Amino acid sequence: MQLEKFENQDLINRLHKFKQAHVLQFWNELAPHQKGQLTKQLESFDFQLIESLTELASAQSPWEKIARAAEVPPAITLAQQSPVDPLYQQARAAGTEALAAGKVGMILVAGGQGTRLGFDHPKGMFPIGPVSNRTLYQMHFEQVLGRSRQFGIRIPLYVMTSPPTHDETTQFLTDHQFFGMDPADVKIFCQGVMPAVDKEGKLLLETKSRIFVSPDGHGGTLEALARSGCLEDAKTRGIEHLFYGQVDNPLIQICDPALVGYHLNSGSEMTSQVVRKTDWSQKVGNVVSINGKVQIIEYSDLPENYAKQTTPDGALKLWAGSIAVHLFKLDFLDRSLAQADSLPFHLANKKVPFLDISGKQVEPNEPNAIKFERFIFDLLPLAENAIVCEVKAEDGFCAVKNAAPANSETPQHVQNAISDLHSRWLVEIGAKLAPGITVEINPMFAADVESLKDKISAGTEITETTYFQ
Ligand code: UD1
Repeated sequence: MQLEKFENQDLINRLHKFKQAHVLQFWNELAPHQKGQLTKQLESFDFQLIESLTELASAQSPWEKIARAAEVPPAITLAQQSPVDPLYQQARAAGTEALAAGKVGMILVAGGQGTRLGFDHPKGMFPIGPVSNRTLYQMHFEQVLGRSRQFGIRIPLYVMTSPPTHDETTQFLTDHQFFGMDPADVKIFCQGVMPAVDKEGKLLLETKSRIFVSPDGHGGTLEALARSGCLEDAKTRGIEHLFYGQVDNPLIQICDPALVGYHLNSGSEMTSQVVRKTDWSQKVGNVVSINGKVQIIEYSDLPENYAKQTTPDGALKLWAGSIAVHLFKLDFLDRSLAQADSLPFHLANKKVPFLDISGKQVEPNEPNAIKFERFIFDLLPLAENAIVCEVKAEDGFCAVKNAAPANSETPQHVQNAISDLHSRWLVEIGAKLAPGITVEINPMFAADVESLKDKISAGTEITETTYFQ
């Protein structure tokens, strides 16, 4: 076929060399601006990388071998720390000092498309407050603000979006005036994308003028932080550590001083928070130790027979489930950035609609494509002195993943978890709660149980559903 007005000969050569010239199938039908868009998109692809990743799909999975070597990582159990334990007190004091000195910033990743939730907007816009109906975004922003006020500082918040979620998120957050945060303290940055390929390694056309691409996984955070200038911004502010969490978990104990303190006191370059898995098939990453290095094996990669292993007392051997809360030393992120292959790609078989050779839209019933994603937690084995801290799930982890018909991780589960947590805080400080009522505490009212003591006196009776704000 004679291609009209195709000026980039080098690109044509590369498309032929990597057997991807089929993407120009409809070239002569395109309007000039569409030709421009398609050319620009193709120029951004690393065809050599795509080819080598595709070859990985037919190679033997490395996970069996990795899983065989997996041992349980030593973990600090935050939930069992007594407030009078000297180690706990030292950790809390060190964390408080670092926070009060403005050395900790926050990254919130929100680039996923939340397909399982069946919500047609960025997930952060999902209303979840059990009494207030606050959105996930509002809950996280107010937690950052609550912590900032608690320590008399301004904690910067770096929100990572992706091309499908960026514009709507920016509009939403701007319309809501960043939920009270100073706009100068909020940076919204966008992660990159990767094309998917079919089983033969061919790129897929989403339309006649656009190749199908999807977010490159939260491993994209690293490059996107640097590219957007957020890493530089953090350095300019004197930030030395970045606290990291996912938008779907409103229970994250954002910038928890004890966690920050354990991270500092052990000289850890990357700290990860875990919960005890409820059963072998729970969809959380498995935090393990391999040759003395902490590492995460994603739930979809861990072979079933290894996930099911038990100890002599019948408990799960690989018990530590990642809640995707990490703390990074900024220097470590810098070092990882300089190391080109610090984050490998993971492959996932997915259903991706595409245009066939005749231009007809195909909606596959079975996975037809391979997507490539990088995971931020793959930095763990590269970190010096990485530590693992266990938190009770009811205190720090209940993520909204699935729409209502599912039997776990639905909005209702998460709302109950928030109310249960805040009820326990109230009971702990000596308040009396009528049975069956729903409660919710805004972090600006009290950021944690310690600060709640100053707001509500022991013996206070709470007789009806209440939102403390
Ligand atoms: C994820 C973790 C899993 C962890 C669990 C805890 C991965 C690969 N696995 O699983 O180890 O135990 O959460 O809830 O992440 N995101 C981006 N950009 C992307 C993809 C995802 O920002 O390209 C964000 C999403 O907005 C979301 C988070 O990452 O906040 C998790 O993504 P999701 O695909 O829901 O991961 P899970 O399978 O639930």
